[in-house]
Amino acid sequence: MDAHLIEFLSLLLRWLHLIAGIAWIGSSFYFIWLDNSLEPPPEGSDAKKKGVSGELWAVHGGGFYNPQKYAVAPASLPERLHWFKWEAYTTWLSGTALLVVVYWLRAQTMMIDGGVAVLTPWQAIGIGAASMAGSWLIYDALCRSPVGKREGALGVVVFGLLTLLAWGLHQWLGGRAAFMHVGTAMGTIMVANVFFVIIPGQKKMVEAMRAGGLPDPIHGIRGKQRSVHNNYFTLPVLFIMISNHYASTYGHPHAWAILVLMMAAGVSIRHFFNRRHKGVLAWQWPVLGAVLLGAVAWWTAPRAIALPPVEGVVNFERVRGIIGERCLNCHAPAPTFPGLAAPPAGVLLHDAASILKNAQRIHQQAVVSRMMPLGNLTQMTDQERAVIAAWIAAGAAAQ
Ligand code: HEC
Repeated sequence: MDAHLIEFLSLLLRWLHLIAGIAWIGSSFYFIWLDNSLEPPPEGSDAKKKGVSGELWAVHGGGFYNPQKYAVAPASLPERLHWFKWEAYTTWLSGTALLVVVYWLRAQTMMIDGGVAVLTPWQAIGIGAASMAGSWLIYDALCRSPVGKREGALGVVVFGLLTLLAWGLHQWLGGRAAFMHVGTAMGTIMVANVFFVIIPGQKKMVEAMRAGGLPDPIHGIRGKQRSVHNNYFTLPVLFIMISNHYASTYGHPHAWAILVLMMAAGVSIRHFFNRRHKGVLAWQWPVLGAVLLGAVAWWTAPRAIALPPVEGVVNFERVRGIIGERCLNCHAPAPTFPGLAAPPAGVLLHDAASILKNAQRIHQQAVVSRMMPLGNLTQMTDQERAVIAAWIAAGAAAQ
């Protein structure tokens, strides 16, 4: 397909994904807050007699709201019942489509890193798809196993398995793709929780009531457990969505560990808010989150990498020659690299003026972080990186 069309399709999908994700995560935050903030109605009150287990008052948008939660179910089923599921389904469908367009269709550049593992595009895609389906199957089996009855133990085991997934994917895929596939595995678990557990459970509750009986509370308990898990997944998944802008994280030699630290920070911070809704100010959690984020900031800081001594003269002509050979098939007005319709990140390096203008960024990407050339597809040597470093150190002059 035409590269421009693919790019525009990815724009539309990304936009949709963001919109649906906001709607879904927004309602997840809202309902967890609601649940944690409910207070039991007073003894003998009408609400108590109706079977309300908790309620609250809120003011928003110029009106007062009084949501009530029933211990199991109301005495009779209301005519109109609102469901929350399309936010979740749309987020997953748009996200998976985006994954296919951005990563799977360009597996050679976006997923495979020759320095990590030698794979064919189909092998890389297979690993990606298996990580999504496999994660759900293992997680779901765990929740249904005896471990699933012990919240704390389950949380620790699930986090341990995600750590294993992050590590495993980094043994096969490039850093960006590995990060993104940890995110899509978590997103798949989240949506499968809605599709296979929460919604079917709610349907069974409604059916039982239509048949004149009382719903089995197990559906409510199970659904609640899964929606709490989804809530803890949100901050890690949101970090992964934006991680692609931060090469210092996914490009780190121990990228999988950076990801695990970021996820742990997200879970700690989320936990603080969940406790706070219950009226408990447990400051140890945001402090732990801050310590973990501090550790990431320190660990990802650029470190001087030993470069070989420069051989020969260092001048602009030489630098320009290196860039022409190693960078221009992507960073030109009309890139020749397959699948690129425009210079990536809008960075042009095709003439003297644009190289001089971008000197610091070139140094950052090709010498400090070594993120460029992408996946070192154009096989830039350490000697060439040393020449660029020396040119910058000498003032990045135009001769
Ligand atoms: C195979 C294609 C390819 C090659 C070759 C390549 N780049 Fe890039 N470059 C990219 C892509 C893709 C991005 C966007 C990365 C992103 O969005 O994270 C990018 C982004 C950049 C950026 C902007 C990064 C930022 O966040 O500010 C700079 C600067 C850059 N490249 C410099 C270089 C230099 C210097 C070379 C040669 C040594 C080079 N690139 C070679 C594909 C390439």
